Amino acid sequence: MLEALRETVRAARAITVLSGAGMSAESGVPTFRDALTGLWARFDPQQLATEEAFRRDPRLVWDWYAERREAIARVGPNAGHLALAGFQQRHPGRLTVITQNVDGLHQRAGSPGVLALHGNIADDRWLEAPRACCGQGPIASGRPPHCPACGNLRRPAVVWFGEMLPEAELEAAQAAAEGCDLMLVVGTSGEVYPAAGLASVARRAGARVVIVNPHETALDNVAHQWLRQTAAVALPALLAD
Ligand code: OAD
Repeated sequence: MLEALRETVRAARAITVLSGAGMSAESGVPTFRDALTGLWARFDPQQLATEEAFRRDPRLVWDWYAERREAIARVGPNAGHLALAGFQQRHPGRLTVITQNVDGLHQRAGSPGVLALHGNIADDRWLEAPRACCGQGPIASGRPPHCPACGNLRRPAVVWFGEMLPEAELEAAQAAAEGCDLMLVVGTSGEVYPAAGLASVARRAGARVVIVNPHETALDNVAHQWLRQTAAVALPALLAD
């Protein structure tokens, strides 16, 4: 099966990868929905990953993200991220990475043009539309940092539940899903839309859809093939020349 898949990769004109938290699991970043180790097994997303939660308790939410941000800064890309970036360098323009991950590990591995649908945890932005004072002088440090003049808060630049995805990235991701002849769906449970819908977009447009995941996913019925391996094992084997 691996040899046949390697042949599919070799023959593919345009490959699109849709990655999720499992992509970074072997880097030491916890996933969300794995039963014992996933973040949402231990924390309630409604208390941490919504604008309402941030408004209710900005310090709690800021600190939770700050901890994750620091943990991510201490780890690095794994063999899966590096295999994707290496393929992109050897075959410019043939592979596009769409990721739901906010950890920036694809980018740190050297992947160009990553479409980060859920933002990046390393960035922050204003909670309210910035007023004239916001960002004119130094931002007051604090948890969260804020505008010393009007109190506007900085918030993590990630997409929270109930929020829209960044329009340009989503459009580019849809185009990459429609325009590929092979989609690799790596390390995602396929439960969060609109990202998960990109697999069906690719399939409807005629692409072969292959899932790389050690477990079953909500997208298994959309795929033609399933490689029940981890990202850091499967991708180097699939993408080597
Ligand atoms: P999930 O936690 O829902 O799913 C992680 C998937 O990775 C599961 O299907 C696991 O089986 C798989 N997995 C675990 N280890 C793996 C490995 N080493 N190699 C390959 N796969 C592995 O994460 P996502 O699907 O990314 O949203 O979750 C989607 C969104 O929900 C996230 O982007 C986040 C979350 O709430 C936001 O932050 C907006």
